[in-house]
Amino acid sequence: MIMEIKKILEFQPGTKTKARGWVRFNRVSKNIGFITLFDGSSIDGIQLVYKAENESVFEKLSSVTQHSSIIVSGTVVEARQGGVEIEVNEIESINLNQDEKFPIGKKEHGLEFLRDVAHLRPKTKLFQSIMKVRSVAGQAIHEYFANEGWINVHAPIITGNDAEGAGEAFYITTSDGKTFWDKQASLTVSGQLHAEGYAQAMGKVYTFGPTFRAENSNTTRHANEFWMMEPEAAFYDYQEMMTVGEENIKFASRKVLELCRPELELLSKYFEKDLFARIENIISKPFERISYTKAIELLQQAVKDGAKFEVSNIEFGIDLGSEHEKYLSEQIFKGPVYVHDYPSKIKSFYMYQNGDGTCRGFDLLVPGIGELIGGSERETRYDVLLKTIEEKGLNKDEMRLDWYIDLRRQGYSQSSGYGLGFERFVMLLTGVENIRDVLPFPRTPGKINY
Ligand code: 4AD
Ligand code: MG
Repeated sequence: MIMEIKKILEFQPGTKTKARGWVRFNRVSKNIGFITLFDGSSIDGIQLVYKAENESVFEKLSSVTQHSSIIVSGTVVEARQGGVEIEVNEIESINLNQDEKFPIGKKEHGLEFLRDVAHLRPKTKLFQSIMKVRSVAGQAIHEYFANEGWINVHAPIITGNDAEGAGEAFYITTSDGKTFWDKQASLTVSGQLHAEGYAQAMGKVYTFGPTFRAENSNTTRHANEFWMMEPEAAFYDYQEMMTVGEENIKFASRKVLELCRPELELLSKYFEKDLFARIENIISKPFERISYTKAIELLQQAVKDGAKFEVSNIEFGIDLGSEHEKYLSEQIFKGPVYVHDYPSKIKSFYMYQNGDGTCRGFDLLVPGIGELIGGSERETRYDVLLKTIEEKGLNKDEMRLDWYIDLRRQGYSQSSGYGLGFERFVMLLTGVENIRDVLPFPRTPGKINY
């Protein structure tokens, strides 16, 4: 039977096994050759040894190029450097990498170079590490919500509404430019509105899927296609929802620490040397909560004390920039911090209005990134919702949100929810600094090659 390399690494010396995978390195001398074989199951792979005394094997394997795929059988033996390796005695198949210009080689490549070969970069240990963390974090998010009895709702990707009212949606047409449905449809910017409908029937629900924004912002934290995880719970207030966010992030971070140690070690060499401390800090420290008003006071004080910002005119009403968000979490709170009760003017129309110009919106700010979560308690009052839509200069009819607004007349309870930008979470856990390097095939402004 063919085993994954991860399992073979636990075999006793003397065990006969088959192994399959791709050749990371092949070093050959006169009488002996060594291949490092990887198959995705373990970051380091396993070493294959082949000897000149087995002539046909030696001849074939010694000419195997990097990143060829092979299937071999042999015996597990103790390795000189500790652990085990496989002494090959038979070859089942070889598919040679015949590309002489193959871009992934022995030397390390820059991240920018690798972005241009997005289909091949998963052959590097670096991207295998990033994508393993991404996978474990995503599975852990589902596991947390499953454990706590939440219902996973698959929100639609094609929608007739612009959930954020920000006009950043991509429109969908047929190939001859026509509108296919009875009205203009777009790719979803958020599953929130649909989740609210389900929360009003099933209590605690969450969506986790791709979302799309036609923002032309070429930053290290924005993509046009990104994954968002959005819980929504009936009868929850925003403080309770902040607790859900904290618990979920801690649960998933703990799982990553537990299941991705070798990957985190490699990543900490590459990106953030204090990665383990960063994650431990997320897990062990309570997330602070401060009002927006308090955040403004703290930033004003920081400016007085000599902190330098590009936007240094800090007063109630400004939208916090990522420099301010990072300062709050990195310098002042030294960990994740919730900011809540923002001015209504800078937040979305659906947030619960406090009546004093603020609303029950909250953001979670984290070191190295800034905003990781954006959420709120939702407006429950039909007439207040309509008034806010009008005050924001949005047009109820153009928004085509009758069904959403009507929920407020149909037994709507209290409800709160948030969206966690999944790529930003993966950046936090890996130390990766550019969102393009945590997405398998990133979509950002400019060329679209894949
Ligand atoms: O703050 P946002 O826009 O909130 C919403 O979409 C709400 N409907 C969520 C809800 O209450 N259910 O987005 C939520 C998060 C942000 O905090 C950020 O982490 C991420 O999504 N995000 C992006 N990530 C990558 N690229 C972009 N262009 C992003 N825009 C938002
Ligand atoms: Mg936001």
